[in-house]
Amino acid sequence: MSFSIPERSTLKGPNFIRAVFERGAGIPGFISFGIGNPAPEAIPVKAIQDAFDKLVHENPMLLLQYGPMQGDAHLAEQTLHRLVNTHHMNPDGQSLLISVGAGQLLGLVPRTVCEPGDEVYMDAYTFTSGINAVRNTGAIAKGIAMDEFGMIPEALDEAVKSGKGKYVYLIPNFQNPTGITMPLERRKAIYEVASKHDLFIYEDDPYGEIRFAGDYVPTFKSFDTENRVLYAGSYSKTLSAGLRVGFMFGPKEVVDVIQVLKNNCDGQMPLVTQRVVSTVLDNVSYDEQIEEVRRVYKMKWDAMYETFQQYASSKVHITVPTGGMFAWMTMPEDVDCDAFFEACMEHKVGIVPSGAFAADGIPNGRAFRLSYTVPTVETIKEGMKILGELTVQFCGK
Ligand SMILES: Cc1ncc(COP(=O)(O)O)c(C=O)c1O
Repeated sequence: MSFSIPERSTLKGPNFIRAVFERGAGIPGFISFGIGNPAPEAIPVKAIQDAFDKLVHENPMLLLQYGPMQGDAHLAEQTLHRLVNTHHMNPDGQSLLISVGAGQLLGLVPRTVCEPGDEVYMDAYTFTSGINAVRNTGAIAKGIAMDEFGMIPEALDEAVKSGKGKYVYLIPNFQNPTGITMPLERRKAIYEVASKHDLFIYEDDPYGEIRFAGDYVPTFKSFDTENRVLYAGSYSKTLSAGLRVGFMFGPKEVVDVIQVLKNNCDGQMPLVTQRVVSTVLDNVSYDEQIEEVRRVYKMKWDAMYETFQQYASSKVHITVPTGGMFAWMTMPEDVDCDAFFEACMEHKVGIVPSGAFAADGIPNGRAFRLSYTVPTVETIKEGMKILGELTVQFCGK
């Protein structure tokens, strides 16, 4: 038979990240700044092994039945405790759901709230799955101009005039792909625009705990007096991405509907992974674990930045992230960025062209995402020396 698949189900941007990964995969000595995985040495392997052992041996029946639809109660309680006590979010009128990573929510939120033709506003360059999941519902992903502080409120205000707006998708901390953190005044200005046009804000914050420099910036959710923020977090970057455990915290009337849609798609969350996370949280200090992640990421970012400063052309700009996993390198206007990208690949260094993250499907652009979490410090230095020297070849000293 021939399946009639609606066009919206197949809509996606170009997958440059995978392309870089696949081209580099078989090449000995290839250095990848392309893939955005957490650093392997920051995963608390022993604590996770101990948790698995304990759970499997002590009371396996706790794992082997269906669990509650809304997720494991103890994990929900631990998660809520941190949101309220560490991040100062007000739990009144809110619900929390446990999800398959923060990633699952990228699909569930637009599927729950969007009608075809609705507009979802997001940074001009943002997380690929955040763009594609909106397109798959038939809604329109609208890229909004950014500056060094993230989304520009005036540009959002202008876009919303179409009258088709549904929500604003933001990654305010250590944004993927640019590494930018939105300062508090900018967050307040964006909130004001959302309030003026009665949009809600989807605050996607999987990197928020991984600050390695500068001061903490309060989340949108912590000053959400109008009950318009859906907050998503994850244990992927602080404990393990393979466990696939994330969460959403937001107004009860929306989160409960998202929960029902989730249950209709995939039933209960797996108990094994939730209970492993919750046992780890019972047995180790989460603050100390996060400190360790921060230490590793800072060490790797410092290696990347120092080598960049030593070897790269002064005409190339790089963002200086204060946490998270990514930096964003922008080339001068007259440079052939496709040729530069190919030269990097030929010299066995993988970076991701900005087109992979363009909400409006802008072609490659002039920027590249660099991820510093997976390679070792030595490899980062080696790769950044090659990359730096290539920028001088293409842009001059
Ligand atoms: C902005 C953003 N949101 C969500 C996710 C998904 O994270 P998780 O592993 O929790 O599904 C990622 C992962 O790279 C991300 O960068």
